[in-house]
Amino acid sequence: IAEEAVLGYLQNHPEIPDSQLFADQLAADGKINHDDIANAIKSLTGHKYVDSQEITTEKWLLTEEGKTYAANGSPEMRLFMAIPQEGITKEELQKKFDASVFKIACAQAAKNKWVDFGKQLVTRKIQRVDDDRVQTLLLRIQNEKDISQDDIKALTKRKLIVLQVKKGFSVRRGPTYAPKRKKIATDLTRDMLQRGNVDEEDFKPPNLNANGAPTEGGCLHPLLKVRKQLKDIFLQMGFEEMPTNRYVESSFWNFDALFQPQQHPARDSHDTFFLKVPSTTKELPEDYVERVKRIHESGGYQSRGYGYDWKREEANKNLLRTHTTAISSRMLYLLAQKPFSPKKYFSIDRVFRNEAVDRTHLAEFHQIEGLICDRGLTLGDLIGVLEDFFSRLGMSNLKFKPAYNPYTEPSMEIFGYHKGFGKYVEIGNSGMFRPEMLLPMGLPEDVSVIAWGLSLERPTMIRYGIDNIRDLFGHKVDLALIKKNPICRIGLESDEEKL
Ligand code: PHE
Repeated sequence: IAEEAVLGYLQNHPEIPDSQLFADQLAADGKINHDDIANAIKSLTGHKYVDSQEITTEKWLLTEEGKTYAANGSPEMRLFMAIPQEGITKEELQKKFDASVFKIACAQAAKNKWVDFGKQLVTRKIQRVDDDRVQTLLLRIQNEKDISQDDIKALTKRKLIVLQVKKGFSVRRGPTYAPKRKKIATDLTRDMLQRGNVDEEDFKPPNLNANGAPTEGGCLHPLLKVRKQLKDIFLQMGFEEMPTNRYVESSFWNFDALFQPQQHPARDSHDTFFLKVPSTTKELPEDYVERVKRIHESGGYQSRGYGYDWKREEANKNLLRTHTTAISSRMLYLLAQKPFSPKKYFSIDRVFRNEAVDRTHLAEFHQIEGLICDRGLTLGDLIGVLEDFFSRLGMSNLKFKPAYNPYTEPSMEIFGYHKGFGKYVEIGNSGMFRPEMLLPMGLPEDVSVIAWGLSLERPTMIRYGIDNIRDLFGHKVDLALIKKNPICRIGLESDEEKL
């Protein structure tokens, strides 16, 4: 309505001399204030409907104190009038005034030399005061009459008047003036084309700096990006990927085939998720099961075994695999069924452990596993392969620490020097598979298997600077973060940026 008011007024009048006054008139019907009018004028000026000039008006207004003096006279005048011809004691005089007014009145009256403040009496110094100058000046201002600069200074100093500054506009018709603003089209419509008057339309100029609509698309999770890099490294090193597409495994392949005794704590339901349905596996290679049973119970191949009663029911139990080494044992068994040929295998897939969840542990994670199966391999080969593998991940200073796994001997924990952290961090586990595992499978006696495993989550967290695993995986992950993550170029980036 403000806009219509301005344009409408200019239809019959050459100019709005002062938008302030214009707004005041309109405000009579209470709908528009000057802010609305001013905004309308600015916008109309921008679109050349009107030409406008900013004008500021200044006006002196009485303060609350000034208003009471204008109405009742100045305090000094009232004091003067309250003093009788014969004088009055200060106490008596004071009773007639408010404390604050009395103070001002005394000061001003003394300054004007109207009053004598004697020891006993307050008396008039002059006979009469004809004009209450302060009141007169204030009344002039109230009536919008001019007063001298000195008087203004004096009244301002006494805080009886303040200057009001108002910004307004003077407005005339502009080059594209119309009594109503034309709607600016943002899009070419079917309607316009049908009416055939496209040329008459006003189009909004395109904003070439506007952001386009965000493109929506799938994106890779950081774990997948790192997995791809690791997969490439394995492939470059000549490894074949093992088929890991089975989360459910039997205890046999997950533990027994790996010479892990049935009383081992990892086989407890506190550490492993066992399946309720189906709770047991359907079939196992019977002759091999027999050999595994024997090696656990009484040994063989120069081993003493564990010397306990091996139970088939325990081996039959289904579980969610606790490591991808379960797949390695299957693959090695299959390999042993054919005439021997050396193999390099790897896998990267999910494993499950019944663990308390904290900032570095989830009940499921991904394991990276590599193994080489060949005649005459030694611990030196393992160390060499690990150094090659990890240097491709950007870690060239490895250290090894003796460790224990039921299925490897010797076993080594792998530590890598992390430049960013400035210290050695544990990065994996490794070893040479025991003869108690390999020989019952049927592999030739001079064949050794070197193997190692590590988690995918750890290098991913280091690479992407994520310090809580729940920010990487699971329902608390911020999808925006997943979308924005950069690609991963492990081993291809400059040294500082490596893992
Ligand atoms: N399976 C081991 C683990 O879960 C990793 C490993 C694989 C260790 C191969 C040695 C050899 O930690």
